[in-house]
Amino acid sequence: MKTILLAISGSIAFYKAYELISMFRKEDFKVKVLLSNGALKFASRLSFEALSDAVLCEENETWTSENNHIDFSKDCDLILFAPASVNSINKLALGIADTLFIQTLIATKAPLIIAPAANTRMYLHFSTQNSLELLRKNKALIIEPISKTLACKEEGIGALASIETIFHITKRELLKKSFWQGKKVIITGGGTKEKIDDVRFVGNFSSGKMAKALSDAFYFLGADVVFLSSLSFDTPYECKEFCSSAELKNLLQEYEEADFLLMAAAVADFSLEAQKGKLKKKDYPEGLKLELKPNEDLLANVSFKGKKIGFKMEFDKERALYNAKTALEEKKLDMICLNVLGEQNNFNSELNQLSFITKDKCVTSELLSKKELGFIVAEFCELL
Ligand code: CTP
Repeated sequence: MKTILLAISGSIAFYKAYELISMFRKEDFKVKVLLSNGALKFASRLSFEALSDAVLCEENETWTSENNHIDFSKDCDLILFAPASVNSINKLALGIADTLFIQTLIATKAPLIIAPAANTRMYLHFSTQNSLELLRKNKALIIEPISKTLACKEEGIGALASIETIFHITKRELLKKSFWQGKKVIITGGGTKEKIDDVRFVGNFSSGKMAKALSDAFYFLGADVVFLSSLSFDTPYECKEFCSSAELKNLLQEYEEADFLLMAAAVADFSLEAQKGKLKKKDYPEGLKLELKPNEDLLANVSFKGKKIGFKMEFDKERALYNAKTALEEKKLDMICLNVLGEQNNFNSELNQLSFITKDKCVTSELLSKKELGFIVAEFCELL
């Protein structure tokens, strides 16, 4: 379990820290809170004690436990300074340790993320900008504030970045692995829609959830992720939407040079000639006959320099492994992930079980959440 030291200084955005703490703890991170004297003017220590794993501030510093500026940060994997006020940013940059807050922040070598929150003119003041530049030079990661109507009613830059952004960036810093740094990973997900006319389509039941979980996992591990999806998702990484298999094919062609392709999309095996406009039912009193022609296999034919990973969904337990191994060979894949549908791992379910099949190995996971499986898929990819 990783530990975050959340350092909160005097800003009206302090209340956003409550939500952040609960987001981290729901994902099993330990959160220790450090409160500045300025933060204590806005909020009580008790409110943070109720939500976090430990709290340190001038009111409760002691040398009889770890609640002192030397010991409090010892077991922390990362310091998240949010919201960061102008006063504390400037003091931290220069090491002016005249408070317990700054003393604690400079008594650790843990990686530092800073999310400032201030009035526009205070944020843009040369002293603040110079301090941020100095902190950046010393490897602090700055999460830029955003522009909006601020608490002081002025419009401009200075509002604390969204808690989702702070959460994603922090989680990524904690989970990143050197193997995935600088690696470009393309993940496809969701089902294709092959048009009948401009209103109707032939599709499938793919929820895209496994592909989304994969994309999240690779992003948090530090990879440069591009998610090609038929469904719209709000993601901290690049997400491009496609509709038909032809559109997906066009998108894939942009990424020939990438390092990994994880083809989890349910691509139509058949396509049809789309009609313009809307077919009228009165013109088809005998019913509408559709002629479906075999579709090109994108995974087998796409020109791709990196490792290719296929996904196979089967109903028939007896034939599943044979079919997956055949696809691995015929499509010249580096790995295929086989999912045999069951009662608990059906379309749209949160759980899944995958067999990871390579030329000389087959390992089957337990039934797990798609979120957990995303990270396991990445581990198998590292071995390819
Ligand atoms: N795939 C593809 N293009 C297609 C069909 C499938 O790229 N036209 C990809 C899928 O994204 C998946 C893998 O191929 O990664 C699935 O392999 P396959 O054995 O063809 O599975 P199915 O299409 O489900 O095969 P079948 O219809 O025989 O069950």
